Amino acid sequence: ARLVVLVSGTGSNLQALLDACRDQEYGASVVAVGADRAGIEGLSRAERAGVPAFTVSLSDHPTRPDWDRALAGAIAEHEPDLVVSAGFMKILGPAVLSRWPVVNTHPALLPSFPGATAVRDALAYGVTVTGCTVHLVDEGVDTGPVIAQEVVPVLAGDDEAALHERIKHVERALLVEVVGRMAREGWTVSGRKVRIGAP
Ligand code: GRF
Repeated sequence: ARLVVLVSGTGSNLQALLDACRDQEYGASVVAVGADRAGIEGLSRAERAGVPAFTVSLSDHPTRPDWDRALAGAIAEHEPDLVVSAGFMKILGPAVLSRWPVVNTHPALLPSFPGATAVRDALAYGVTVTGCTVHLVDEGVDTGPVIAQEVVPVLAGDDEAALHERIKHVERALLVEVVGRMAREGWTVSGRKVRIGAP
């Protein structure tokens, strides 16, 4: 399966996918990396891996729909089977979502703590367990059907950075596992249920 991976920052989830894709048996390859801003580590990782990259910034487009269409155009050039949002910090629009299935990774147990400050919000709430969620993206904010989740305990003395680091460790492994299985086995969606495996 051909993957286009979208990033906005460090790209450690992207790196985990790039590393996994070096094994032929993984069943997928990262054919391009897309970003919504220049100068990020995620783009350097693409360059080091020899994977083509593109940047489509919201600020370069008059409206969000224009940006959405430009992003879809850039993605389309690489003909992906699946788009992976791996720390991509923008809400995707219909031009992208109507054309490809998109998988996102989120650092909390959805539907708890959606949005950009999930780890901080979970800590502030006082939960004793949190985790990560891999889900299909719909037009809401972190609302699409859940594919897989993993639990991470909150430890005494955790701050946002320490907790997020432990979540990301688990998150990378879960994303690699789920994307690989989807690539190799296919998947079906019925209502909010996602089933990996041939229909
Ligand atoms: C991940 O925790 C992702 O879920 C989130 O931002 C982080 C991105 O990390 N929304 P990286 O850029 O893949 O290192």
